Amino acid sequence: MAPIVSIRNLTKSYATGFEALKGVDLDIEEGEILALLGPNGAGKTTMISIVCGIVNPSGGTVTVGGHDVVRDFRETRSMIGLVPQELTLDAFESVWNTVAFSRGLHGRKPDPALIERILRDLSLYDKKDTMLRHLSGGMRRRVLIAKALSYEPKVLFLDEPTAGVDVNLRKDMWQLVERLRAAGTTIILTTHYIEEAEEIADRIGVINKGEILLVEDKATLMRKLGRKQLMVELSDPVATVPDALASYGLMLDDGGRHLVYDYDTTAERTGITTLLAAISEAGLRLRDVSTRQSSLEDIFVELVGEK
Ligand SMILES: Nc1ncnc2c1ncn2[C@@H]1O[C@H](COP(=O)(O)OP(=O)(O)OP(=O)(O)O)[C@@H](O)[C@H]1O
Ligand SMILES: [Mg+2]
Repeated sequence: MAPIVSIRNLTKSYATGFEALKGVDLDIEEGEILALLGPNGAGKTTMISIVCGIVNPSGGTVTVGGHDVVRDFRETRSMIGLVPQELTLDAFESVWNTVAFSRGLHGRKPDPALIERILRDLSLYDKKDTMLRHLSGGMRRRVLIAKALSYEPKVLFLDEPTAGVDVNLRKDMWQLVERLRAAGTTIILTTHYIEEAEEIADRIGVINKGEILLVEDKATLMRKLGRKQLMVELSDPVATVPDALASYGLMLDDGGRHLVYDYDTTAERTGITTLLAAISEAGLRLRDVSTRQSSLEDIFVELVGEK
């Protein structure tokens, strides 16, 4: 099946001359949930804004449902829901009117039953007549989500939907995303919370300095994370790994003081017992043994080189 969103060699240079995107390629499959991780200024919002037709690309192409986002803006925009990172709302409208109006703005027929369901799902129904300026920040974020859902988009972009919100809203969000996925909506969210990506995404992408560094199935990533390292500290450092231990693929660390062994925690045999026996047969004396397991956060920090 053709991807629902297809991004090819996308570049963006702002008027300041700053290159925010440097040739991004990304395909998003219909019905998947993709989480984009990246530090501040990585280019996440820029990329989303281009797909949504809010920012013009400098080069490359983006299609949504087979339509070009620049040439066929009206078609693509009506397929896309966007929950922006910044809270932008008209302070003097009520919750209900804001959400119902958003549906009309996107050319959909009025559907009060749907609006009611969305507001109930987001625990906003009892605030339906409240003016937006009287809502808390987290509730305004819920309204932004309700607005985006009001016209039943095929593709939903959530730009840091849970930044600065409480645990309840975060959990509500995750459940809502799960329901939308079940209904077939494609969802792309950006987040700084690695556990959020782990919790809800099918695929995880990492972007930094305008480049996509990795896009991988969460399951594949997690399998890689299933790998562990055994660190064997020796009483006396060695210059090279003894020939007798060649088959274990060991690495030397800490000036020959540590032997490092990579193994798969999910494998039937980890090889640790035989390795330890072989080490003492090779005449090396152990001082200490420890293990270390990398997390998604380690992978992220390693890729991006900063927290
Ligand atoms: N209108 C603009 N003019 C000039 N530079 C801009 C503009 N908008 C964004 N930038 C720059 O482009 C880069 C990418 O910004 P962007 O907002 O896409 O990052 P982000 O990944 O969404 O970051 P964050 O996690 O902080 O939201 C940043 O260095 C930013 O300063
Ligand atoms: Mg952003």
